[in-house]
Amino acid sequence: MVKDSARYASTGGWGYGRFIDGTPADEAQHRTCDGCHQARVKDHDRVFTRYAP
Ligand code: HEC
Repeated sequence: MVKDSARYASTGGWGYGRFIDGTPADEAQHRTCDGCHQARVKDHDRVFTRYAP
């Protein structure tokens, strides 16, 4: 996950990513992420590692 309130405004500032064997999963899978996070972990802000390209 990446936090960027401008770029990902529609999902509460969070960009979601899921990779399977190094390949990004399809968009339909990413759409499932935010619903649950908004409902359950909206006030948590725990991601602190850097994105490793
Ligand atoms: C069924 C509910 C649900 C769905 C769907 C879901 N998550 Fe989560 N996710 C959680 C919960 C609950 C936590 C625990 C957060 C906490 O304890 O603060 C979590 C934690 C995380 C964390 C760790 C955050 C941290 O810093 O501790 C990441 C990364 C994450 N989810 C990514 C995703 C991604 C990417 C997707 C979609 C592919 C996704 N999640 C879908 C419920 C969900």
